Amino acid sequence: MKTVSERLDKNNIPKHIAIIMDGNGRWAAKHGKPRIMGHENGVESVRSVVEGAGEIGVKHLTLYAFSTENWDRPKKEVDALMGLLVHAIEAETDELNKNNVRLSVIGNVAIMPEEVRHKLNGCIDALKNNSGLNLVLALSYSGQWDIVNAVKHLVADVQQNKITQETINNELFQNYLSTAKMPAPELLIRTSGEYRISNFLLWQIAYSELHFTNKLWPDFRKQDLFEAIIDYQNRERRFGKTSEQLTS
Ligand code: FPP
Repeated sequence: MKTVSERLDKNNIPKHIAIIMDGNGRWAAKHGKPRIMGHENGVESVRSVVEGAGEIGVKHLTLYAFSTENWDRPKKEVDALMGLLVHAIEAETDELNKNNVRLSVIGNVAIMPEEVRHKLNGCIDALKNNSGLNLVLALSYSGQWDIVNAVKHLVADVQQNKITQETINNELFQNYLSTAKMPAPELLIRTSGEYRISNFLLWQIAYSELHFTNKLWPDFRKQDLFEAIIDYQNRERRFGKTSEQLTS
């Protein structure tokens, strides 16, 4: 029997994969541990999928690490998540560098604690010349924030006569989104058996294939990423066209 990596079509790897990493709290509850232990174990999953994505040539991997709505969690959990983030960034920079990974961040980072921003910027800077996987952390991010932020900058450019209202179309608009330099994700994965988008990349996932798995995020590994990609490779992406149009 072929292994999961042998079943992968290496000529049809998505350029951009986005993941909603869900189920850390339930994983912790299942193991009789405090919620933060779920997040801590989730870091091991991040490590594994980053490694897997790099190995097979994914160009961009966007991870929903902290949403705009997550600020409303108990202060203790928010503080613990910020601490975990700082710790993970520090601990992983060398390994990411060895694997030729670049780091970027999307979201309202300006409202993150100073220490987190400082560490993030240091890591982004240390990895900026790498040419492999672009690891994108969505932090203090929501799809609605992204769209409103884009509108603000677009309106400013109209007011300053840099662009005219008539030139606004989908292509121009997406240049104002935080993902401007990336292709739209071909594949969006959500773990933990929930079937929601939870305010993630709302504009960008217009034609993404969606893959849901019951696995809780701390149990997710690169083999699960490869399975999700195989599922994607078996889909027919029609972009609103008919099946016949695609084959003719
Ligand atoms: C959702 O699970 C997960 C989060 C809100 C945080 C995800 C963060 C990590 C995996 C660590 C990030 C680290 C790096 C280096 C990117 P949940 O708490 O909503 O789980 P539940 O729905 O079971 O309660």
